[in-house]
Amino acid sequence: MAIQAVILAAGQGKRMHSSLPKVMHALAGRPLLAHVIQTAETAAPASVPIVVYGHLGDLLREKMGRYNVRWVEQKQQSGTGHALLQALPEIAAPDQVLVLYGDVPLISLPTLKKLIDTTPANAVGMVTARLAQPAGYGRIKRDQHGRITGIVEEKDASEQERAITEINSGIYLIPAAFLHKWLPAIRNDNAQKEHYLTDVITFAVRENIAVHAVQPDYHEEILGVNDRAQLAHLERFYQRRMAETLMRQGVTLYDPARLDVRGEVETGRDVIIDVNVILEGRVVIGDGCVIGANSILRDATLGKGVEVRPDSIIDGAVIAADCVIGPFARIRPGTTLAEKAHVGNFVEVKNSQIGAGSKANHLSYIGDSEVGKHVNIGAGTITCNYDGVNKHKTTIEDDAFIGSNTALVAPVTIAAGATIGAGSTITQHAPAHKLTLARAAQTTLENWQRPRKKTAPIDGK
Ligand code: UD1
Ligand code: CA
Repeated sequence: MAIQAVILAAGQGKRMHSSLPKVMHALAGRPLLAHVIQTAETAAPASVPIVVYGHLGDLLREKMGRYNVRWVEQKQQSGTGHALLQALPEIAAPDQVLVLYGDVPLISLPTLKKLIDTTPANAVGMVTARLAQPAGYGRIKRDQHGRITGIVEEKDASEQERAITEINSGIYLIPAAFLHKWLPAIRNDNAQKEHYLTDVITFAVRENIAVHAVQPDYHEEILGVNDRAQLAHLERFYQRRMAETLMRQGVTLYDPARLDVRGEVETGRDVIIDVNVILEGRVVIGDGCVIGANSILRDATLGKGVEVRPDSIIDGAVIAADCVIGPFARIRPGTTLAEKAHVGNFVEVKNSQIGAGSKANHLSYIGDSEVGKHVNIGAGTITCNYDGVNKHKTTIEDDAFIGSNTALVAPVTIAAGATIGAGSTITQHAPAHKLTLARAAQTTLENWQRPRKKTAPIDGK
């Protein structure tokens, strides 16, 4: 008996006022639907999740192409019961069906585990919650023994029923055999003229099948996204939880409310993160790293003791221990820095390997380069790597010293220990341990006179 997750995602999401399907909107950098798919895969690992789609289906399937799901179309959105019915032919009778929603992104694994582990095999399980503001949700009706007797939608509820604060999250675990029997029997004789999935609870009660409810640890887990304000609310909840997780793991956050994680991070001990930092993609931060304010790390790996000074961007790079980066540095994909390298202010490094202890501290562009150990790259040095069509490589060997404001026209090699005079434009091989200069010789014109203005200056001189 396997658990088959079915994610309902056919709703239009009118209140987003968007040309994107609602479930494509990003929370923590990933589509809402991606969060649910990942949770479903973990909670029900024996099957591939089914996604019921409808509105803007082609766009959705194209954008979500890399996720391993089975797509089922619901041509007309005539209710949650009708939506699940579309998936039914795909589901084997011995399975249990876990119903999730593409726009309820933060349902957690612990809550689903609790639902799966505590719902008896022949019962119906569901997730409910008590909300101070239950408006909009279906309300849970219980008898005097506390047994669930039904769900009433807000639009169909009496005043008394609306006062109930226990709500239906819409998340259920139901034996497929029951669904094969009940779903085709659901009618639409209600205020919204929809086929309500909630009617399955009425069927269960009628047939004396136990209805078992569990509650989530955080009510945000079951909140849906219908508009951008709700999306922002869940984003902040997610980020606060992420910040708490990092702090528990030994990270100091100067302001937990001013860190955004949009991906996966792995952190060592005694990491310090200043305010307004964004971590995207897969980020690894080693022991003792300090990440300065307003920095962005994307798909980056930092060894121990790296200091990222404020306003730096590190994207697609591997930074070894004890490097110093920034302030205002930009490190682009394909870059590796060996230990103790320094990349300073207004320095851009792209697709380059920088050796141990090498420094480019001011105002440089290093692209498609291989830089050895203990190289000093003076302020204003530019690798001219692009001829308008092709990219070319610059090689700078160990212990070279590049004078300020040098243009290195690639392909070119600066051999070990070479010194390049400031202001040079280097187009040919610079030999090892020699001074190479390529600039106009300095001249002085002895008889030159500065032009003078005809009118006398105001002070009369
Ligand atoms: C539903 C529940 C309600 C519960 C609430 C929780 C029903 C009848 N009501 O109400 O008890 O409190 O969720 O959020 O189930 N969908 C489809 N196809 C459809 C209709 C909906 O795929 O034809 C999908 C939507 O994309 C959405 C989900 O089902 O992800 C819920 O639909 P929605 O219209 O938001 O249901 P509610 O009226 O909020
Ligand atoms: Ca809803």
